[in-house]
Amino acid sequence: MSHQKSEEVSKTSRRDGHTSDDRESAATSGLSLVPISLPLEPVFSRRRMLNVAGALANSLVVFYATNKLFGRHQKLVQALESSFFVRTARELFERLIARAPKRLDTFDCALLSLAALILCRRLFRLYTYLTGPKLADRFMGSAVKFLSRFVPAVRKEVEKKNREAVADMEKSLVQPTEQSFVELPPQGMKSEEVMRLIDSRTAGETAWKGGKVSGAVYHCEESLMKVAADVNAKYLLSNPLHPDLFPSLRQMEAEVVAMVVSLFNGDSDCCGSVTSGGTESILLAMKSYREWGRVVKGIEKPEVIASVCVHAAFDKAADYFGMKLIKVAIDPVTSEIDLKQVRAALSCNTVALVGSCPHFPHGTIDPIEELAEIARRHQLGLHVDACLGSFLVSTMDAAGFPLPPFDFRVPGVTSISCDPHKYGFAPKGTSVLMFRDAGLRTFQFFTCPEWTGGIYASPTIAGSRPGALVASTWAVMLSMGYKGYVNSCKTIVACARRIAERISAGDVPGIRLVGRPDVSVVAFTSDALPIYAISEAMSKKFHWHLNSLQSPNAVHLCVTLAVAQKSEMAFIENLRESVALVAANPREWVTGGAAIYGMAQGVPQELVSDLIGQYFTVLYTPFVAGEKEKEGAEALEGRAREAK
Ligand SMILES: Cc1ncc(COP(=O)(O)O)c(C=O)c1O
Repeated sequence: MSHQKSEEVSKTSRRDGHTSDDRESAATSGLSLVPISLPLEPVFSRRRMLNVAGALANSLVVFYATNKLFGRHQKLVQALESSFFVRTARELFERLIARAPKRLDTFDCALLSLAALILCRRLFRLYTYLTGPKLADRFMGSAVKFLSRFVPAVRKEVEKKNREAVADMEKSLVQPTEQSFVELPPQGMKSEEVMRLIDSRTAGETAWKGGKVSGAVYHCEESLMKVAADVNAKYLLSNPLHPDLFPSLRQMEAEVVAMVVSLFNGDSDCCGSVTSGGTESILLAMKSYREWGRVVKGIEKPEVIASVCVHAAFDKAADYFGMKLIKVAIDPVTSEIDLKQVRAALSCNTVALVGSCPHFPHGTIDPIEELAEIARRHQLGLHVDACLGSFLVSTMDAAGFPLPPFDFRVPGVTSISCDPHKYGFAPKGTSVLMFRDAGLRTFQFFTCPEWTGGIYASPTIAGSRPGALVASTWAVMLSMGYKGYVNSCKTIVACARRIAERISAGDVPGIRLVGRPDVSVVAFTSDALPIYAISEAMSKKFHWHLNSLQSPNAVHLCVTLAVAQKSEMAFIENLRESVALVAANPREWVTGGAAIYGMAQGVPQELVSDLIGQYFTVLYTPFVAGEKEKEGAEALEGRAREAK
């Protein structure tokens, strides 16, 4: 199969629209030693023309001013003086001067000009602030913060709300333990003791195995877990940073990339690397486009265009790498990115477009072929985020759920991210970032040839990396095989489609679908009842862990193998009962997550950010066992000794 595929693929690559001349010109441009599929900018692009015009105007001003000052090139200076621009500028200036009070001398005039420039800059900043996103929200946030500083009553109220939120978080996140460690134990503990602690700490931690969790844990197959654990143990101390010490690991990593590239129909030019997760793949893809834009197009303020449903990892990348992420609207019915808005958002600073395959909130696949067409026409990168779709989207055709092309078969797709740690069923901590060619991938690497510790280079964000994850991912992929993934895709996608069909057929009165569930995510909301309260009822009463979405308020179920195998039948029944419970008494269910989301919607974003800060404080604060817990631990130990 793979041979057949690679033949098809090589045909595809010849159809990819980038001529070998493009590649050669890039290769010989001195930018990189390897060919690059993203073409170089045409000589007469709009951006270049604007740049040239700007530079010409600047030079003319300098030429005119200096020659006028030193009395050189009189003829040219006279010609410039009689030109429309200089005449108008002179007229304006003279009018201003004529009005200026007579006591102003030349120095004052220069000073005034400088002040005018500074004022213009300030005004421009004010304009961008006023026309920026969510002005009212930012204003309210700053106002509440300001008031809480100086008005004791407001401060008290904000503090009270914060305390309540923190208490809520502690209640749901911090689990008491019989023994806690905030310092090293004075003596090393025996491994049996350590294991006993682990057993006691994980005794009640079984929710993730029950098949009622949306995403997060993508399978619960004992045999796969065993393979991963065995291989993990063998490579526990390995580190891909030292390929000379672990040559077998180097081969495995290269094979993981090659296998994923082949799933996404890449040809022999396509390449990639293993990263720690979807977020790191996205960060590196964005960094690569930033560098490519800077080196090849001379863009200093790079912009990326994506839909409002794109994963937050792109916001993170924009934040980390000083890029601008322009988010455009989605179609209100299908949730696909709005192509008209993409075209309208293009600018001379755009370096890349992003298409999700599918996106996290509503599970809809963006129109990748159309995005690729725009990217090609404007010579931009196109990143396809298949982190979530991963091994599902790449096997859906074979599983009987055909999709329009979304991968390297589409000319114009220049990079793809895919997470084996999601539907590839690998242990957490692996993603693959692929590029159409090695030339683009070079922009992802970091090198520091002059470091006193030796020539340093690392392909991804981390330095040392867990080789055990690469090896166990490789082992899981071999254990599953192509057929294994096709079968799991059949089970998962069929389950998601059945659930979506029942909701759209009105099987759960009051609930309607949000977006188009293309793969495994089914998003829904209610027009009559608070959807977060319904989600809370699903959690408290039926132990479902669903994801809360916003703008619009909704909830989704990301179907995993465990959900499909264990809980599909229960889902619709539980949802129907939850709707009835909330309809009977909506207030009863506005607690926990529903309360936090409800509150977050009512307060400005800035205050929500403060709350999130508190959330992290709760996460990093260990529970300290008190006397009660210690007594319990001692009693347990005593019983264990007696049993021995
Ligand atoms: C579409 C999409 N992209 C990226 C990510 C980020 O992946 P990770 O959590 O592995 O960093 C996710 C995670 O759910 C996702 O759904």
